[in-house]
Amino acid sequence: MDHHAKYPGLSDLKTRARKRIPHFVWEYLDSATGQEATLKRNRTKLDEVLLRPSILHGEFTPDLSTTFLGRGYKLPFGIAPVGMSGLIWPGAERLLAQEAARQGIPYSMSTVATQTPEDVAPYLGEDAWFQMYPPRDPDIRKDMMKRAKAAGFNTLIMTVDVPVASRRERQTRGGLTQPPRLTGRLAVQAALRPAWLNGIRKTGMPRMKLMDSYAEQTTSLSSTEHVGYLLRTSPDWDYVKYLRDEWNGPLIIKGVANADDAARLQDEGVDALWVSNHAGRQFDGGPSTIEALPHIRAATTLPLVFDSGIEGGLDILRAIALGADFVMLGRPWHYALGALGDAGPAHLADMLAKDMASNMGQLGTKTLAELPARLM
Ligand SMILES: Cc1cc2nc3c(=O)[nH]c(=O)nc-3n(C[C@H](O)[C@H](O)[C@H](O)COP(=O)(O)O)c2cc1C
Repeated sequence: MDHHAKYPGLSDLKTRARKRIPHFVWEYLDSATGQEATLKRNRTKLDEVLLRPSILHGEFTPDLSTTFLGRGYKLPFGIAPVGMSGLIWPGAERLLAQEAARQGIPYSMSTVATQTPEDVAPYLGEDAWFQMYPPRDPDIRKDMMKRAKAAGFNTLIMTVDVPVASRRERQTRGGLTQPPRLTGRLAVQAALRPAWLNGIRKTGMPRMKLMDSYAEQTTSLSSTEHVGYLLRTSPDWDYVKYLRDEWNGPLIIKGVANADDAARLQDEGVDALWVSNHAGRQFDGGPSTIEALPHIRAATTLPLVFDSGIEGGLDILRAIALGADFVMLGRPWHYALGALGDAGPAHLADMLAKDMASNMGQLGTKTLAELPARLM
């Protein structure tokens, strides 16, 4: 079915998703931390990036393809890791992995997903990236990498912008617990969202299954504590070295926001950097990622992944113009799932590709490589 007439833009998907996802889950998905100033700044600073159109280029079909870490891609965007994805929409990890495989784009799975690497293995395409929140225990770290690799994840992402828990006041007010429980007002909110609730009845109440599988190995875990936070450590530079030694494959460091770190990470031998501020969920006093991007581009020759606040094809072009090699989205895939269920991710991918092509037509740019020269 063609959803473009009814849902031409991401905002249409977001509006519908809000009506189909229970309020406490919505607050987890949609909120940031503090005053949410960084969340807003990600948007306003993207809008300020202007590109110079050029006319009279005749008829052409823009080429959206790119290469990243030695691989060719028809589209320059992919799926960022989102924890508890399957709570946001039932079956999300499988649905997103399947769509990524169909589109030939990367799917990143979070350490704190509701599925284990083994659960999603049958659905993975060739570009499966595993995102690691660094476990404190070296044995757990090694085992996690082994399991991810055996399941078919070929690229390792270490996320470094969650050194400690952030406050996330709106999420807290929403009342989500870990593990999630449908009691009291949350049960009432769930009952108002039958499509979501029916899905959850089929999948069972989502939990951080990979974390749970290690929970017994870690001491002092009480059932009310957040397993995800207890198992992980605040990584340091030595941790990057361990991973570089232990992971045989591309290693990406996610959550880079300053140029000094970027230069040093290149010296450590990582393969790519992921410029991100976690969509404003961690620190409310930093730059938007689009402001940070050119400084990081200037500090390193490593390939750069970019995310935080991308809402359409034009935003993807803006990030590429400022030096990104690949662009990822987190929340939008979940808005799409919330709005259209199984059909959501394909519609979003198509919407992004069409928006990129339309804007490249306006710019008169035939390839992504021409974009930097169009910056104003
Ligand atoms: C609900 C939610 C959960 C997230 N969980 C993780 C996670 O487990 N690991 C991680 O590296 N990033 C996580 N992120 C950050 C995303 O990977 C990504 O950086 C961010 O969502 C990009 O911004 P966007 O949502 O505006 O596209 C999460 C983001 C959201 C919205």
